[in-house]
Amino acid sequence: MTKKLIDQYGRTLNYLRLSVTDRCNFRCYYCMPEEGMNFVDRKDLLSYEELEYLLDIFSSYGVNKVRITGGEPFVRKGIMDFLEKMSQIEGINQITVTSNGTLSRDQMIELKRLGITKINISLDSLNKQRFFEITRRDKFDEVFQCILDLLELGFEVKLNAVVADEKNISDIIPFVELTKYYPLSVRFLEEMPFNGSGKFEVPKWNHVVLYEYIATAYPTIVKLSDEKNSTSANYQIPGYKGSFGIIASFSRTFCGTCNRIRLSATGEFRTCLYGPAAVNLRDVLRSGASREELVQEIIMAVAKKEKDGFEAESLQAEAPKKSMSFLGG
Ligand code: 5AD
Ligand code: SF4
Repeated sequence: MTKKLIDQYGRTLNYLRLSVTDRCNFRCYYCMPEEGMNFVDRKDLLSYEELEYLLDIFSSYGVNKVRITGGEPFVRKGIMDFLEKMSQIEGINQITVTSNGTLSRDQMIELKRLGITKINISLDSLNKQRFFEITRRDKFDEVFQCILDLLELGFEVKLNAVVADEKNISDIIPFVELTKYYPLSVRFLEEMPFNGSGKFEVPKWNHVVLYEYIATAYPTIVKLSDEKNSTSANYQIPGYKGSFGIIASFSRTFCGTCNRIRLSATGEFRTCLYGPAAVNLRDVLRSGASREELVQEIIMAVAKKEKDGFEAESLQAEAPKKSMSFLGG
């Protein structure tokens, strides 16, 4: 019988979100300041060899699903070779990726070859100017073309849109309309306090407000059934090819069924995005610890997983200052 990571509330943690770099070619306002990001030194990143070793340990403890995130995963050199090695690790039977949509067509084809067919693209606006204001990069056309290419190549595409007042409210309906024509899923997210600044306001456009807004515009809205550990409440407009979801990422309504653990690019191991790192696995590894010692650290961290994101947040002395690009989305 495979061993499993089970926390004190009986939740089985089988889904690892792995940030492979804190770097990114965009500067989304909710993630990074425009200038002056202090990216970590390369020597401080877990090397691909270290990552493979840790993944092998995780998979022997029942982690069978891994999402590669960043920063932007495709800006790290050697990422495709790493994904290839990862795809050969026994026990990891689903690899997914989150990208900002600047990967090349060759990379898409390579992903398919590796059996990686589910991809999340972060896109907060369908308007070129607003896209620029949000990401501080003039890349809308490239990202949109990437989405079309992914669909054409048969990927299962989800778009993540962080919704915020004065930024992209006028994109909500166009995003729902996009699902009329394309078989993709758009997920609307509440903004979270991980922008690297320590300053944050509770989102006005929370999941309830968002739902009311959309349901008013679309009285025929239908609730879809959600997957077991889903963070999104999913909906469809009858006759539309795609669907959409609302993720209460700040309101944290889904912690009860959480199956997630996170590893930052520098080895910080978190059992909740909102909480402090339980242990730095890179440091444990580099101190010469045995495999069994690493396993013990992971098991101890899992045992301490907090009930929900509010409890985890209360353990942090200060407001979170870390960027999502470091924590891993
Ligand atoms: N609040 C909400 N979502 C965020 N993301 C990054 N930073 C934040 C934040 N502060 C999202 C990105 C991406 C995913 C990895 O996380 O848009 O889709
Ligand atoms: Fe880059 Fe994603 Fe952060 Fe935007 S949200 S700056 S695309 S890592």
